[in-house]
Amino acid sequence: MKTALCASEPGACGARWPVGRAGRRSFGERPLSSRSECSPVVGADPPDEDPALKKPQGLQEMEGLSLANEDKTMSANLKYLSLGILVFQTTSLVLTMRYSRTLKEEGPRYLSSTAVVVAELLKIMACILLVYKDSKCSLRTLNRILHDEILNKPMETLKLAIPSGIYTLQNNLLYVALSNLDAATYQVTYQLKILTTALFSVSMLGKKLGVYQWLSLIILMTGVAFVQWPSDSQELDSKELSAGSQFVGLMAVLTACFSSGFAGVYFEKILKETKQSVWIRNIQLGFFGSIFGLMGVYIYDGELVSKNGFFQGYNRLTWIVVILQALGGLVIAAVIKYADNILKGFATSLSIILSTLISYFWLQDFVPTRTI
Ligand code: C5P
Repeated sequence: MKTALCASEPGACGARWPVGRAGRRSFGERPLSSRSECSPVVGADPPDEDPALKKPQGLQEMEGLSLANEDKTMSANLKYLSLGILVFQTTSLVLTMRYSRTLKEEGPRYLSSTAVVVAELLKIMACILLVYKDSKCSLRTLNRILHDEILNKPMETLKLAIPSGIYTLQNNLLYVALSNLDAATYQVTYQLKILTTALFSVSMLGKKLGVYQWLSLIILMTGVAFVQWPSDSQELDSKELSAGSQFVGLMAVLTACFSSGFAGVYFEKILKETKQSVWIRNIQLGFFGSIFGLMGVYIYDGELVSKNGFFQGYNRLTWIVVILQALGGLVIAAVIKYADNILKGFATSLSIILSTLISYFWLQDFVPTRTI
């Protein structure tokens, strides 16, 4: 973690450049993803080379190679760590949400529109803390980074309004889909996002997928769809919905598949093709997310909020769900940065299987049928 956590600017790493291993890197050399956090973010000047300190070229190359290998190993570690945490986070969020929904309680229920805003604000606070840690716990450096990277770069910040707006639209589309389709049909259809994500990764990021990779994506999508296939009783429920409303629901979920693929890959493009840190990008995303979220509170629940307050119905469990949701945002960003959107699809699929198993063996609230 050390390279990644090293300050975003050289001065914060120590007294003078070159300091430590990170300082010995040549300026502007950023071939590996893990390096972007450590490269100077705010207007740092390249260090003056002292000819007396210059090492023989062979030695420099060997050092460069070993540093590159170290960075590669660290990148791989972060990749698997973030994917592992994503599986844990998605599984626990699903189970906690299910538990909170089955729990009988008195008084008003919490408003999901306010929970979205609280989760975004928590995400921003966590990211500010991470940037503070990256700036060696210096409030001055933190202030300068936030100023230079967010306030002074309005166009860069504005780029994040696109995925943020699309995610807000997506969350609303999913609401429309769930109002017009039964939950299982919705879940099955939504798995199409695995393929749309791959298509956007190929077209927008120039990723190359071989025949086996396409095949495994199709197998994954089919497998996950089977896991979510409606049981006989759910099929009966869905027959009660009119053909017209089924069509509206289907269109909404299909559009959400495209928006999910596009927003994820767009965010990945921004993270991998610009030098700003993943946490700064998440603050920018959370900023727009909170604004759009507050608009949602006003539109959907304005009256209820003015009557019973913003935090109506919040209890300990609500806070756990909100914290897990905020953690989800952080982990998804890290997964997109250190792995990619396609692997994110595999991790969330694994969590569907895990939560199904836990639901069956532990909570005993799930009975398998022919399909699942
Ligand atoms: O279904 P899909 O994987 O597209 O959902 C992604 C979700 O993750 C969205 O609800 C979005 O708000 C959230 N997200 C986040 N922070 C990120 C990236 C995505 O909260 N950096």
